[in-house]
Amino acid sequence: MSDLLTNLKNRKKREVELLYSEPIFDIELSSKCNINCIMCPRTKLTRKHEIMSLDLIKILIDWLPDNAKAMLCGLGEPLLNSNIFFLISSLRKRNIEVGITTNGLLLTENNIDMLIDCGINLIQISFNGSSEAIYGSIMRNSSFAVIMQNLQYLSKVKTPVLALTVKLAATTQKENISDIANIQTLAAKLGFEVFLRNCHSRGGLLEVDGCKPNNLPGCGIFPKVTFIAANGDILSCCQDLAGKFVLGNIRQHPFKEILKEKEFIISKDYCFPICKLCDDEYRYLLLADNII
Ligand SMILES: C[S@@+](CC[C@H](N)C(=O)[O-])C[C@H]1O[C@@H](n2cnc3c(N)ncnc32)[C@H](O)[C@@H]1O
Ligand code: SF4
Ligand code: SF4
Repeated sequence: MSDLLTNLKNRKKREVELLYSEPIFDIELSSKCNINCIMCPRTKLTRKHEIMSLDLIKILIDWLPDNAKAMLCGLGEPLLNSNIFFLISSLRKRNIEVGITTNGLLLTENNIDMLIDCGINLIQISFNGSSEAIYGSIMRNSSFAVIMQNLQYLSKVKTPVLALTVKLAATTQKENISDIANIQTLAAKLGFEVFLRNCHSRGGLLEVDGCKPNNLPGCGIFPKVTFIAANGDILSCCQDLAGKFVLGNIRQHPFKEILKEKEFIISKDYCFPICKLCDDEYRYLLLADNII
């Protein structure tokens, strides 16, 4: 019993430490998407499918704290929002680091040039197969030929831009597990890094082979990452596909209030219903002392 209490105390201490460390913001510029990946929980996304408005983007630019790191990701395709370049250049003027996670279909030469001109720090392209067959079996309605063309151009223009990191992000699952080494080889040829992540069940919403919640409490994502949905709602995390667990909205609540709300939730050891089935390994990895 005393061991349990000590572990709980240490875990909460670590969660509070993460809460007040350099914050990461997962910003959903669009909850719409232009393709349909087999492992993506978008089919269960009952929140409105929308594009973040320019008016809200302007609020967001002032709302983020100075030490923010912004990741343009969310549960849709960020490049569907044409105001993305305005957002990136405004945040870079504030010296805020900005990254994007994209399926890459809209990474045209023009868009790549504009992202680089805006001073983007990280471009992460979700890329789940090194052949048309494997890629197409996972990233449905995308085009392997277009993606490869976009990656070639990005590889060509990236080299002189030392401040830019480019990664191919693969979600490992049974369809591509035998292809991961090929993705790594391709990335190396292009001069990109690789980010691998196990497919998880998105808070129990998807049936994923081999993934089961292990019932361990605690989450490093909740304190470290603040999820801002396309309508400005701050949700518990990106797994909240129904938009049920709203901590506030950037139109009404300053970030300081959100931090207080999160600290209160941590102090009560509250667990959202989706957390009980959440098998996202990063909830534990972030809690580990040696990460971040
Ligand atoms: C939801 S997408 C949004 C951004 C953009 N549409 C894209 O695909 O890059 C963000 C990342 O989540 C990954 N992802 C989707 N479903 C997943 C799952 N069940 N488990 C782990 N990662 C997943 C995607 O592959 C992508 O890299
Ligand atoms: S591109 Fe991204 S948001 Fe769209 S279906 Fe695939 S993983 Fe989901
Ligand atoms: S445990 Fe999972 S569902 Fe719960 S807040 Fe953390 S990441 Fe989200």
